[in-house]
Amino acid sequence: MAKHGKKLRLGVNVDHVATVRNARGGIHPDPVRAALLAAEAGADGITAHLREDRRHISDTDIERLRTQLHVPLNLEMAATDEMLAIALKHRPHAVCLVPEKREERTTEGGLDVAGQHNQLAPYVRRLVDAGIRVSMFIEAEPRQLDASKSVGAPVVELHTGRYCETPQGPERDKQLLRLKAAAAHAEKIGLECHAGHGLGYDTVEPVAAIPTLAELNIGHFLVGEAIFVGFADSIRRMRAIMDAARIDSGRT
Ligand code: PXP
Repeated sequence: MAKHGKKLRLGVNVDHVATVRNARGGIHPDPVRAALLAAEAGADGITAHLREDRRHISDTDIERLRTQLHVPLNLEMAATDEMLAIALKHRPHAVCLVPEKREERTTEGGLDVAGQHNQLAPYVRRLVDAGIRVSMFIEAEPRQLDASKSVGAPVVELHTGRYCETPQGPERDKQLLRLKAAAAHAEKIGLECHAGHGLGYDTVEPVAAIPTLAELNIGHFLVGEAIFVGFADSIRRMRAIMDAARIDSGRT
């Protein structure tokens, strides 16, 4: 369980390095090289989403990340039989179960763990029994947190998309309160709590200040910002904002 005041981990998602590579085919830019650079720049872990349609990360990328990385690999995937076999073959440090629709541009909304409880419980068990830390990517709703606990996942990742997409003002504040309440609920029921999706320099600080969060997963913004300042610098700046938010929240 997340301890208050503990360092907030940063997982860097390298999917969109692969998106740029795949726009032309070939091998450049290499997401594994980006992952190694990210780890050097202060990422505590690397996240990669192997989608059913392989639109960015490929099976070979996962194999190479698994053998070359010296920081934990968090494999995002849909709860399908194909992905279960891949996870059990590679045994990454962590698996994050996400909903997936072919036509979506990115992961829209969280997994309906409450609605798929009976299918997900044995699925999660297979992963947990293999020694993989399983997290459920969910909306910040108490019933999804309770269902995640009930299917046996030790971790949840709160979807921050709606918070990030809402313009600054009372509506965004409301979304932040939802995230805070969910993170507190997670701690109460004994789940480690992570968050991610859509975070950038201007949205990360209040989320990083939530004391019971243990990890943030951030990708698209960092890869985009790398065009202007380089990948390492974009990660270092994000890390610094997160660390400052955590220190400030400890003082209040
Ligand atoms: N966490 C999860 C579960 C995700 O699916 C994604 C997007 O792949 C992220 C975090 C990172 O989101 P972004 O790329 O918008 O930072």
